[in-house]
Amino acid sequence: MTLLIKNIGQLYGINQTCSLRLTGNAMKQFLSLKDSYLLIDNETICAFGSMTDAPEQADTVIDAGGAMVFPSFCDSHTHIVFADHRAQEFIDKINGLSYEEIARRGGGILNSAALLHNTSEDSLYHQALGRVNEMIARGTGAAEIKSGYGLSTADELKMLRVVRRLKETTPLTIKATFLGAHAVPAAYKGRQDDYVTLVCREMIPLVAGEGLADFIDVFCDEGFFTVEQTSRILEAGAKYGLRGKIHANELAVSGGVQVGVAHGALSVDHLERSGKAEFDVLQDADTMPTGLPGASFFLNIPYAPLRQMIDSGLGVALASDCNPGSSPSCNMKFILSLACIKMRLSPEEAFNAATINSAYAMGVSHTHGSVAIGKRANIFITKGIPSLDYIPYAYTRDMIGTVILNGKIITGK
Ligand code: NIG
Ligand code: FE
Repeated sequence: MTLLIKNIGQLYGINQTCSLRLTGNAMKQFLSLKDSYLLIDNETICAFGSMTDAPEQADTVIDAGGAMVFPSFCDSHTHIVFADHRAQEFIDKINGLSYEEIARRGGGILNSAALLHNTSEDSLYHQALGRVNEMIARGTGAAEIKSGYGLSTADELKMLRVVRRLKETTPLTIKATFLGAHAVPAAYKGRQDDYVTLVCREMIPLVAGEGLADFIDVFCDEGFFTVEQTSRILEAGAKYGLRGKIHANELAVSGGVQVGVAHGALSVDHLERSGKAEFDVLQDADTMPTGLPGASFFLNIPYAPLRQMIDSGLGVALASDCNPGSSPSCNMKFILSLACIKMRLSPEEAFNAATINSAYAMGVSHTHGSVAIGKRANIFITKGIPSLDYIPYAYTRDMIGTVILNGKIITGK
């Protein structure tokens, strides 16, 4: 089956060199082609070029009518399997409590863990499915999803089985991350090392045994897990082939970047409190620093210094961090706007960060994150957008016309 999109005003995100990630100055260019076509064969992009060279026929033809086409967003850091919401903590925040104060009172992640414990796997699946559908409708084609609201062996497995079911039943490309070390559960209060032992000796082997996770994560930050504990968990995960993706430096300068890089982590995420020491460690690493501006916006905390990172030659990724406590939104277009407005990325840099580099940060940039022959046909066609810059500028305006995932039309205008 072939699908031809003709009369594309501008086709963006072209990756002629098939780079797996972009760094420094290379992030400034988001390559495009005017007046073009894109041809899809089954699940794959098989040709694109100038409209004058477009094939005359295909099984299905879409006339883009001059609209733009983009590679789908890759959202490399989410927590979309959770029960209900935490809107009541939103009010606590308005009244002046910080994220850490809410957590110390037994709210925060522990609140979500209690809610999840009392929710069936089936109900969790249906709640998460609604979020997946919203992500798809907003232009996301691939997402990483973490556990971490279980905090017991049974409930962590329950979450990861929901992620597996989402993988099997939705067109979203999904990678799963085991985040048993998201918080110390109430039953282990004062026995943090014992909980780390449970994560390493019991949870990791069971998670890996069922093939439920692609990656492993630790919340390495003040009040959560130390560098030593993070190191233990990363070592235990590596024995089962689980590569790290670390929550680092959100609340304090935690050492999370250094320990992540030392263990060959694929990404280190958050980074709100980081500077030259962290940039230096990242320079020669295969680790992708990932900014989560939705959490900075929602928690009123500093934004990660992605501008300085790019200026120092690093590549950066962007993700939504969609979760009920610090970033209750999966809208990657809003993440682009925050990256431009608050982090001073250019629209081109923000798009690269949210496509090819975020694909790298979830281990799929060989197949996703750009327009290239042989890559997965995950794209969206815009509606009524006058320029690339207009997308992050008009920060609440919907821009999605048609979504195509795996070569199939999912939603259309
Ligand atoms: O990435 N910082 C740690 N974890 C999540 C928040 C989880 C929650 O509050 O439920 C984050 O921001
Ligand atoms: Fe997170």
